[in-house]
Amino acid sequence: MKLLQLLPLSLALSPLVSALWPVPSKSTVGNSTLWFSADAEFSLSYVQSNVGFMLAPSQLLQTLTKRNTLNNSSSSNKPPITEEILDRAIRRTYHTILKEGFIPWRFHARNAEFEPTEDTGKPVTSIKLQLSGPDSPNVLKGLDGEIDESYSLKVTEDGEVTVFANSSIGLVRGLTTFTQLFFKHSTVKDSAYTPYAPVDIQDHPAFAHRGLNMDVSRSYYEVDHIKRTIDALAYSKMNRLHLHITDAQSWPLEIPSMPELSAKGAYNKDLVYTPDDVAGIQRHGALQGVQVIIEIDMPGHTSSIWYSHPELIASFNEQPDWSTYSAEPPSGTLHLNDPAVYTFIQNLLKDLLPRISPYTAYFHTGGDEIKAAAYINDPTIKSNITSVIQPYLQKFVNSTHDIVRQAGLTPMVWEEMVLDWNLTLGSDVVVQTWQESTNVNLTVSKGYKTLAGNYYFWYLDCGHGQWINFPPNQSASFFPYNDYCAPFHNWRVVYSYDPLYNISAEAQHLVIGGEVHAWAEQTDGANLDRVVWPRAAAAAEILWSGAKDPVTGGNRSQVEAAPRLSDLRERLVAKGIYAEPIQMAFCTMGDNQCNLG
Ligand SMILES: *[C@@H]1O[C@H](CO)[C@@H](O)[C@H](O)[C@H]1NC(C)=O
Ligand SMILES: *[C@@H]1O[C@H](CO)[C@@H](O)[C@H](O)[C@H]1NC(C)=O
Ligand SMILES: *[C@@H]1O[C@H](CO)[C@@H](O)[C@H](O)[C@H]1NC(C)=O
Ligand SMILES: *[C@@H]1O[C@H](CO)[C@@H](O)[C@H](O)[C@H]1NC(C)=O
Ligand SMILES: *[C@@H]1O[C@H](CO)[C@@H](O)[C@H](O)[C@H]1NC(C)=O
Ligand SMILES: *[C@@H]1O[C@H](CO)[C@@H](O)[C@H](O)[C@H]1NC(C)=O
Ligand SMILES: *[C@@H]1O[C@H](CO)[C@@H](O)[C@H](O)[C@H]1NC(C)=O
Ligand SMILES: *[C@@H]1O[C@H](CO)[C@@H](O)[C@H](O)[C@H]1NC(C)=O
Ligand SMILES: *[C@@H]1O[C@H](CO)[C@@H](O)[C@H](O)[C@H]1NC(C)=O
Ligand SMILES: *[C@@H]1O[C@H](CO)[C@@H](O)[C@H](O)[C@H]1NC(C)=O
Ligand SMILES: *[C@@H]1O[C@H](CO)[C@@H](O)[C@H](O)[C@H]1NC(C)=O
Repeated sequence: MKLLQLLPLSLALSPLVSALWPVPSKSTVGNSTLWFSADAEFSLSYVQSNVGFMLAPSQLLQTLTKRNTLNNSSSSNKPPITEEILDRAIRRTYHTILKEGFIPWRFHARNAEFEPTEDTGKPVTSIKLQLSGPDSPNVLKGLDGEIDESYSLKVTEDGEVTVFANSSIGLVRGLTTFTQLFFKHSTVKDSAYTPYAPVDIQDHPAFAHRGLNMDVSRSYYEVDHIKRTIDALAYSKMNRLHLHITDAQSWPLEIPSMPELSAKGAYNKDLVYTPDDVAGIQRHGALQGVQVIIEIDMPGHTSSIWYSHPELIASFNEQPDWSTYSAEPPSGTLHLNDPAVYTFIQNLLKDLLPRISPYTAYFHTGGDEIKAAAYINDPTIKSNITSVIQPYLQKFVNSTHDIVRQAGLTPMVWEEMVLDWNLTLGSDVVVQTWQESTNVNLTVSKGYKTLAGNYYFWYLDCGHGQWINFPPNQSASFFPYNDYCAPFHNWRVVYSYDPLYNISAEAQHLVIGGEVHAWAEQTDGANLDRVVWPRAAAAAEILWSGAKDPVTGGNRSQVEAAPRLSDLRERLVAKGIYAEPIQMAFCTMGDNQCNLG
């Protein structure tokens, strides 16, 4: 076996050595070449027998040969969902390495001969997937932290690969890392190589909840756009897609028992998500370890209900002073003390929640940006005084949360519910913060499990400028029309955010993760990829690997991160995700050519 004989030493030791994103907790790599082709065989075994494990030893080893990996499992007593998760993961592994590779010229000096020759190195022969025991019945819908996503990955110089995990989702994460070791070769076909054998990786996530919040109400996205986004989330080891599925502007969510909601409230009768669409999106995510969480934002952000149920909505589309009543046009809020609204919510959730609960542990009830002024026109409140409104809001939210719990789900809310309205919520509730970082400290201080996502760092839609038009006599004073959260948050800004900032050691366990946000006033399917990618991946590394460098204890280094994130970006592009470039190729073609100083 020849080892990288063509390479000058300096290139063999190039920074590519750790081109994994997000960076694993522990890894060592070597410098031997291995080739991966469709001949590589996968197998699955259970290495420990846990209490309650059903298979006899003779059945433990199930050979999952390439592509046609799994037979119909109805006759088997193994949990079929594990097979489906792994079947898909194995197919993705082949496809990613063999069909979605990239030639890494941009990570080597100009005109360098960085590729191994065809006769260098051995083939990958076997990929042994090992589980410590059967999956939890909740593997598709675990609570934050319930499903163990840790894995270990070993690749020997002889081409033997072992991925070990405590859940099939851990194996999914490990196989994702495995694909990132490989590169496409410019002349060798149907095969890809890694220059890094032997490899030894131990890896686990820093945070349990690692997500993207995608607003699919302000703009409608085709189902395939959402599924493509899920694929990219999984590829960066994110595990949550939060669908902000209804808002003031449109109600695209079809509710079979209340067909008028989307028939009248969607932008167009075709721009809807049917029950099959929602289940398909959720299943597509769950099988890759990306739980899809649905939000119906209430009681504000509901004016799209007016198109079908005007009798339930107060202060609908107040013009021109909409900003008194809501954060955005059209204004409108559900009546807060109206039996008809309670019945409406009951019927809505009775239809929706049982359908989404096979694939999620959560339901997000919203609660952001409620303006007291809107309730002066609510015949059941007739006041704009917060202390008058507050008890009705508490009762409304408690009632909604009880319905959520009865469906077996855990409620989530936006931070205003506890920070502005001082509501008392159950200790199960997850509070999603989005404003100043100190708000994480405040919600955690009240004892709530909290998600981070400060809009100065993690709002991906910021910096596009205003979407509101300014009439001629006001235009000059708003020039150059910056939006409220400008400027654009470069990946370095996203990467500099620490969800644990200002949180005491004793309280850190309450910060269960965070989400980046893609609000859709100016984003739709045409620019989705470049709004979200690769910046969501910068957050993915913070959430998977932690914000601090484990060696220095300080902030992670952009200098170290940039070439790795560039590598991930090339892989996303090869998957058909139009992610923006990190740097021009010149910067990654040699060491430290584009650093300040
Ligand atoms: C490869 O790694 C081995 C062991 O660390 C080292 O001795 C050898 O010099 C390396 N070869 C090259 C070409 O870098
Ligand atoms: C799976 O299907 C293949 C082809 O249909 C068959 O040869 C093989 O015996 C089956 N394996 C099991 C475990 O049923
Ligand atoms: C498995 O077999 C059952 C019974 O023959 C059949 O109804 C089902 O569609 C099959 N499932 C798959 C995924 O092939
Ligand atoms: C699997 O579970 C064991 C026991 O809880 C734990 O020590 C280990 O870190 C977990 N993950 C892996 C990849 O082994
Ligand atoms: C409440 O309503 C009164 C009477 O319309 C108005 O003067 C006042 O500005 C309003 N206050 C708020 C906070 O909206
Ligand atoms: C919530 O509490 C804060 C601080 O005590 C207070 O300023 C605010 O008015 C309260 N909000 C409501 C709606 O009661
Ligand atoms: C609302 O629910 C919380 C959590 O269960 C509870 O502590 C509180 O007393 C409830 N408030 C009302 C008004 O029902
Ligand atoms: C930490 O959070 C507290 C409570 O929100 C706030 O008062 C304080 O200013 C914060 N400290 C820093 C350094 O941000
Ligand atoms: C701008 O012009 C409109 C219509 O001509 C008028 O209603 C409005 O009061 C003006 N606003 C300002 C700030 O001058
Ligand atoms: C580390 O990052 C934080 C933001 O998360 C920033 O406030 C701080 O200045 C950075 N520290 C250094 C030494 O760059
Ligand atoms: C909030 O920040 C303050 C310091 O500003 C700190 O003393 C306190 O422990 C923090 N609270 C939590 C829950 O981390």
